[in-house]
Amino acid sequence: MKFGVNHSNLYLTAMETDSDKILEDVKNALGEVATRSHFEAVKAKFLGTNGVFRELVKNIAALPKEKKPAAGQAINICKGEIEKIFEAKLAEIEIGEARASLGDVPDPSLSSGGGEIFCHPLRKIRSHTIEIFSKLGFSVADGSEIETEWFCFDALNTPQSHPSRNESDTFYFRENVSLGNVSKNGDERYVLRTHTSTVQIRTMLHSKPPIRILSPGRVFRKDTMDATHSPIFHQCEGLVVEEGTSVCDLKATLDFFFTELIGEGCETRMRPSFFPFVSPGFEVDFRSKNIGKLSNRWIEIGGCGMVAPNVFKNCGYESGSVTGFAFGVGLERLAMLLYGIDDIRLFFQNDTRFLKQFSMPML
Ligand code: DAH
Repeated sequence: MKFGVNHSNLYLTAMETDSDKILEDVKNALGEVATRSHFEAVKAKFLGTNGVFRELVKNIAALPKEKKPAAGQAINICKGEIEKIFEAKLAEIEIGEARASLGDVPDPSLSSGGGEIFCHPLRKIRSHTIEIFSKLGFSVADGSEIETEWFCFDALNTPQSHPSRNESDTFYFRENVSLGNVSKNGDERYVLRTHTSTVQIRTMLHSKPPIRILSPGRVFRKDTMDATHSPIFHQCEGLVVEEGTSVCDLKATLDFFFTELIGEGCETRMRPSFFPFVSPGFEVDFRSKNIGKLSNRWIEIGGCGMVAPNVFKNCGYESGSVTGFAFGVGLERLAMLLYGIDDIRLFFQNDTRFLKQFSMPML
């Protein structure tokens, strides 16, 4: 045993002149360590309550006055070095533990299964949706998944009292969190965006009409996962801001999309509804002769409406100077209906037996 109490003076002398020896001893002692319990025992010997350092610190008292500051400084520097060595060793042990619990490291050069090219159904529906809207001149706009309350709610005319702002519905960050790349007002909180309608605001704030954007992306709500709910899902938002747009243009756009996606004979209808950021607002349903069990039934698929004057105002557009419409659909829901998927959890499990059923989209 190298670290008996009686060796303390020896170490103190060593530290006053050269801390190499003690660092060497630590490295040697850790060299044989492979488990967390052994690691803790060695750490206690050096840094614990009755460890070498405690003794050294005590022994400083016995040194001549002029030697004390240098000895103290040497101890502190050496202690810092030793802590670093312990941290590195702990990281090594943790990696070993993770490897042991995960099994062999996969070889990324191996084929992922018979050379088949398959495509996640969400990627497929996303690509198909973008492709259809690009025929109407829409381009893709991106937003941030972490949003501020203003972008997610206030700018979209959604008051503090609106249920979607409840703690039980929305993932809020702690108040003191600050993220360099998403700026916010002092007293606002960050939220994981609850919808992609936030991208309307981000787009209008930095561009002038005419605007035709599509924004597919991930959204987050405090839902318990089951066959039809997931706390993470995907939406696709659309926004058009142009002179003289009307509900007719909105309806024609939705008709075009669903006919391209599902085929001739597909109809859409709009039912009056309330979304704070559009006026008038509608639920969108579609009906098709050709979607298996659900054929000829109205199926609710999203929301839409004419952009509310307050939303324009919040984006700095002069009141009455522009018109526009917006719509939002759920991508999992669309994919489930189109590809006959009956459980939303399948989208997130990455089971190749499921994924293999989807080929790459023809773009
Ligand atoms: N943001 C809405 C939601 O998540 C969906 C929606 C409704 C989007 C109406 C729109 C709209 O653009 O006009 O429930």
